[in-house]
Amino acid sequence: MELSRYDPIWRAALPYLRARKNDVHVPISFNYAVQLCAAHPEAHPDRVLPAIILHDTGWAVIDERAIFEQGFGPNMMESDVRYLHEREGVRIAREILQDLGYAPELVAQITALIDGHDTRAAARSLEDELLKDADKLWRFTTAGIAVACDWFKLTPGQYATRLEREITGQLFRPWSRRAAATELATSRRALHCDLLP
Ligand SMILES: [Fe+2]
Ligand SMILES: [Fe+2]
Repeated sequence: MELSRYDPIWRAALPYLRARKNDVHVPISFNYAVQLCAAHPEAHPDRVLPAIILHDTGWAVIDERAIFEQGFGPNMMESDVRYLHEREGVRIAREILQDLGYAPELVAQITALIDGHDTRAAARSLEDELLKDADKLWRFTTAGIAVACDWFKLTPGQYATRLEREITGQLFRPWSRRAAATELATSRRALHCDLLP
């Protein structure tokens, strides 16, 4: 897969990737999306890969304090900021893709994946499943645990347990569940979670 074709999207997205550690989350999730597309040749990489690069750009235009007060508090899935980051992400992605000359039909397909990537539990297509799985898989890496455990005010070991109990079951593809288990075992060894629970 020729990945340099997506470089212009990365460059255009960069100003929006400095919020909420998205400059760590998005590259790691992109790598998973590439592997998921390779494992599912019937999916369209030209929809999934631009969508994963742009899916969280909306966080950059939302007040950080509101993110942490509302986004990770009670009823986090229903909170306004989670819907807002999707809506803003759709708007930013549409502008970026239009400026880069993407065809309107492809822009609509990509932004449809971004819309609801977080708040809609059900997937509407294979591409939707791959995007949602890639969005979650980064958390199982050592970097993902290091970043996300702070958001949930858990230790790395506690967060690893939460991933195993709550997030693995939300993954759609068998490939993703295998990758999550492998990555989590590696991260637990790297972080000495047996000694530092
Ligand atoms: Fe998101
Ligand atoms: Fe995300």
